[in-house]
Amino acid sequence: MTIIEAGKIAADKLNQAKVPSAILDAEVLLACTLKKSKEFILANPKLKITKAQEKKYKALVKRRSKFEPVAYLTGEKEFYGLRFLVNKNVLIPRPETELLVEEVIKYVGTKSLTICDVGTGSGAIAVALKKYLPQTKIIATDISKSALNTAKKNADLNKAEISFIKTNLIYNIKDKIDLIAANLPYVPEEEKKIKNVFSKPLKYEPAGALYAGRYGLDSYEKLFQQTSNLPRKPTALFCEIGSNYAQKNKKMAQEYFPQAKIEIKNDLCDKKRLMIIKN
Ligand SMILES: C[S@@+](CC[C@H](N)C(=O)[O-])C[C@H]1O[C@@H](n2cnc3c(N)ncnc32)[C@H](O)[C@@H]1O
Repeated sequence: MTIIEAGKIAADKLNQAKVPSAILDAEVLLACTLKKSKEFILANPKLKITKAQEKKYKALVKRRSKFEPVAYLTGEKEFYGLRFLVNKNVLIPRPETELLVEEVIKYVGTKSLTICDVGTGSGAIAVALKKYLPQTKIIATDISKSALNTAKKNADLNKAEISFIKTNLIYNIKDKIDLIAANLPYVPEEEKKIKNVFSKPLKYEPAGALYAGRYGLDSYEKLFQQTSNLPRKPTALFCEIGSNYAQKNKKMAQEYFPQAKIEIKNDLCDKKRLMIIKN
């Protein structure tokens, strides 16, 4: 079988299963199977693939046709121009989270602050911040040991020095934290029931990275509680939030930080995505 034949069969199968971006996914999975770039695949349509490669490719396409995310099949994802290893223990870093990284970089500038990435998952935020703000000290926490193991691998892969701590949010952190960056779970529990092309891939991601109570606010409420009880409060919190309950989240933040200036920024899809709390 040639590259073009294998690719066509795969794209048809993915189209039939109603997978969005079927052609692109077929190309990416073929490139991953052959351990070549997508450009190589496109430039060599008549090249024959081996029986073993065909078998491996079919297995990946079958998994994709059940809506398993491409990043879990290839084992990696790009975030903020950096490469991250991903697996079922970590949330796949999302492009919208780049807004949070961008805003923290702008805010920090050349200051030598201690930043805590709360709920680090794959380590995407922590690693990107350390690469672009090398003068800062970065602490990254997660409640999941297996997520932290992946985050450590990503820090090594990107040569970023980060202190990883397994804890509940920021509980018991000894350092004085100047700034909190957090992308904590914010999907309302009721959304577990929704079944469409956008929700199907979510069942492959860790539930503990996604859902946070009735309005998706529970994790942030606990973080605000812990932060407001710190003897020395951070000067700013940058929190990625769910757009549907953004106002509710802002109101909750105001109760915990009555003196703070709170602003909400929209992402590239014009959805309320980032809450910045400046104390
Ligand atoms: C939405 S994911 C975000 C992962 C990563 N920061 C990113 O932006 O791709 C939320 C992460 O928070 C972690 N988490 C959930 N509850 C936590 C808690 N109470 N304390 C620490 N981490 C928690 C989850 O294990 C998960 O890795």
